[in-house]
Order: sequence, then C-alpha cells, then structure tokens
Amino acid sequence: MIQSLRDRLQPLRELPLRLEQIDSIDQIADPVQRAVEGAVPPGSPLNEGLSGTPLGHPLHPPLTDVVVGAWTGAVVLDLVGGKRGRAAADRLIVLGVLAALPTVATGLNDWSTLYGGTRRVGVVHGGTNVVAVGLFGTSWLARKKGRRLTGKALALAGFGAVTFTGFLGGHLSFRRGVGVDHTAFLEAPGEWTPVADEASVKESEAMLVEVGGVDVMLVRQGESLCALVDHCAHQGGPLHEGTIEDGVVVCPWHSSHFRLSDGAALSGPTSHPQPALEVRVNEGKVEVRK
Ligand code: FES
Repeated sequence: MIQSLRDRLQPLRELPLRLEQIDSIDQIADPVQRAVEGAVPPGSPLNEGLSGTPLGHPLHPPLTDVVVGAWTGAVVLDLVGGKRGRAAADRLIVLGVLAALPTVATGLNDWSTLYGGTRRVGVVHGGTNVVAVGLFGTSWLARKKGRRLTGKALALAGFGAVTFTGFLGGHLSFRRGVGVDHTAFLEAPGEWTPVADEASVKESEAMLVEVGGVDVMLVRQGESLCALVDHCAHQGGPLHEGTIEDGVVVCPWHSSHFRLSDGAALSGPTSHPQPALEVRVNEGKVEVRK
C-alpha cells in the first residue's frame, strides 16, 4: 500500500525538480531579481530587517505561519463553523491578507540571493502565493457583497494554492537548504589541533586551513589570531576570499559582515552568526579547537 502511494505521488515529488530545469522562468526571474536588489541592496537596514539578521533567525518562516494559520482557520470555519463562524472567518481572511504583505516582502528579499534551479522554484512559489493573496482578497470582497458561497469557493481555491506553495517552500528549505545555517553540520574537533606555523599567518590576510574536514579561515588582527569556519553560514560562500577590514570579514558572495573575533553577524543578508574557533599558539604552531 505504501509502495502504491509512493508511485502515485511520484509526479508530485518530481515536480520541484522539473521546475528547477525550466530555464524560461529566468526571463521572469532576471528583471524581478534586479528590481529587488535595487530596492533592497544587500547590507542595507531594510535588507537586514527583512532577512532577520537582528533576530538571528530568518524572518520569512514565522510570518508564513501567521498567514497559513489565519487562512486555514477561515476555511475550517467556512466548512464547519455555520452562521456563528462567519464573522470570525471573514476576519481571519483579512488577517491573512494583511500578514501576507510583510511575508511576501521577506520572501522576495530571501529569494533575491538565489540562483539557478532554486531561483526558478522560488519564482513559482512566490507567484502562486500572489495568486493565493488575490483569491483570498476577492473572497473577502465577495463576502462583503453577500455572495458567501462564491467567497467560500474562492477561499478554498486560495487554500489549495497556499498549500502548494508550502510544498515548494519545503523543497527550497529542506532539500535545497535555502534559509538554513550552512555551517550547521560542520563540526571542528574539540581538542587542540595544529593547523599552521604562527609566522605564516599574516596581518588582515586570510589563510585557509583545514581541520577535521572543516575549512577554517585564519587571520591575524594585531596581537590576536582569529579563526572562523570558512563556509559562510548564509549560503556557503568562501569567506577567505572576502575582504577584511577593521576586524570584520565581508563575504564575497552577498556581503554579509562577520566580526572576526567571535563570528557575530554584523550585517545581512545572513541571519546566522559564523562559528568561531578558539585559537592558541603552542611552540610556534597555531592550534585551534571548537
Ligand atoms: S554566502 Fe551569502 S553572504 Fe555569504
């Protein structure tokens, strides 16, 4: 039975992978991405706010919960709430539409740093969400005009659309790692490990070393030595290729700023800090540990 369910769901499972291959979607993605980057430049206060940098957590996922929760509540009340549930259902639809505005803004901001197949799936995810907002908005208008049955049908269609986009959003996050901390599974050894001669680490000049299978960026800042995991927490950019200035490294991919001494995220688009390692010098060798 499970096998037959698997077979039936095969087209659905493959859908995001097929969307990733449709290069004509780029014709929509290119101008929209340029517009978003122009309106919300990487590292700007708006970019950081929408990314969730001050929170240390992406802002888009919790906002989607508000939208989906409100609309789910409205559809349930439509189906089983009877006359007494009408007013609450209408209010929940309005709440969902209002909450969708910042949710779309955070989603566009996150999407603007994607490329290739994930960017294409993101276009379909975002476009279908806009359709869902339109369906729930017109549902509310129909209700106000007394056409409740039409309003219910539109809300049900909107619910189908938002469920589909949730499926695509899950693909982007859980299968492609959009929004996740790209250092989550990079674990440096807990014991002191020699990685370089002390004399080879130059002032404000990144040096790439490897410890326990993890790439680490070493850099000297005056009297102290700093070590950060090299794989950028945002989307995996090579930090050792970034610029270093005033105790900060700037990622070469999307310009997130990380403090060298402790990896704190000082500016977005990252919402995750960068793991810092402990450093010491022992008999002329630089040693690091988690
Ligand atoms: S990979 Fe995006 S800021 Fe580093």
